Amino acid sequence: MVVSDSFSASRAVQLGELVVFPTETVYGLGANALDKMAVAKVFEVKGRPLFNPLIVHVAEVNQVPPLVSAFPALAEKLAERFWPGPLTLVLPKSVCLPDIVCAGLATVAVRVPRHPIALEFLRLAGVPVAAPSANRFSEVSPTTLDHAQRSLGDRVAYYLDGGPCEVGLESTIVSFGSEKPLLLRSGGIPQEAIEEALCQRLEIPEANSLPQAPGMLAKHYAPRARLSKKATIPSRAGLLAFTTQPDEDSFAECEILSRRESFQEAAANLYAALRRLDEKNLTEIEIRFAPEWGLGKAINDRLRRASA
Ligand code: TXA
Ligand code: MG
Repeated sequence: MVVSDSFSASRAVQLGELVVFPTETVYGLGANALDKMAVAKVFEVKGRPLFNPLIVHVAEVNQVPPLVSAFPALAEKLAERFWPGPLTLVLPKSVCLPDIVCAGLATVAVRVPRHPIALEFLRLAGVPVAAPSANRFSEVSPTTLDHAQRSLGDRVAYYLDGGPCEVGLESTIVSFGSEKPLLLRSGGIPQEAIEEALCQRLEIPEANSLPQAPGMLAKHYAPRARLSKKATIPSRAGLLAFTTQPDEDSFAECEILSRRESFQEAAANLYAALRRLDEKNLTEIEIRFAPEWGLGKAINDRLRRASA
């Protein structure tokens, strides 16, 4: 396990090796998306079930057409508006992608990240890079190199350091696989901003329907402690709150995501705060949610999944 440079990492990925790289959302565990053996290693190293497809990362929008069989005008509009950035588009896939990347689905998820090191790495690699978050299955996504290294260790030989992730939440996923654009995962770009760019509302999959993004299982971002809306014994519990709370001192441990009530700051702190609380070996963590609009929705979505 060495901290690498973009040039060596890009050569390694071309040769079928795995590379952990920073993005503005969370760290990714990347493999050449055109090399099915390399992609299979991603599933093995992560301990991820094969039915859960990966997001394909590219350096620019021009690399998308060969990967897809259609690029609807509305999807292009979103790409133009939000790429590079924390938005993933699900589009009908082309035959050139191995089935393992898309878990046998007829669609592929693609995105252009905006972290400068991700872009440099992807540009030098020249190949599309399939990458899930760089954590073992069912752990919280890594927002620093240290998180990724502690989770994956020597199972991966190449790590790129890009500092703490600026956004801190995974990308928003919008699917163009059926008639109307569908919000599959809330994330770094607020739903409202996407609807404004599209001049139309997004469809939201019903809560009780089969998960459309197979990774969106109700329980996903899982700390070991029990997360609840009301701790039974606050003096022995942790508190994880969006912002300052009048009774925060009555908890054994406390994490305030943003004292100045900034969604951006709260999102960037969320996963590290969950990890810190989890390391205190508390049995219980009380959650106080963010306001339910903008990025607050994505923050609350992760908190609800962590407490499912
Ligand atoms: O911000 C992000 O998106 C990060 C960074 C590394 O780019 N990646 C990430 O990947 O969060 P992962 O694998 O942890 O989550 C990918 C999600 C999963 O829920 C998966 O089911 C969904 O994307 N997905 C991938 N391909 C899909 C497809 N063809 N149709 C529907 N959902 C898909
Ligand atoms: Mg993940």
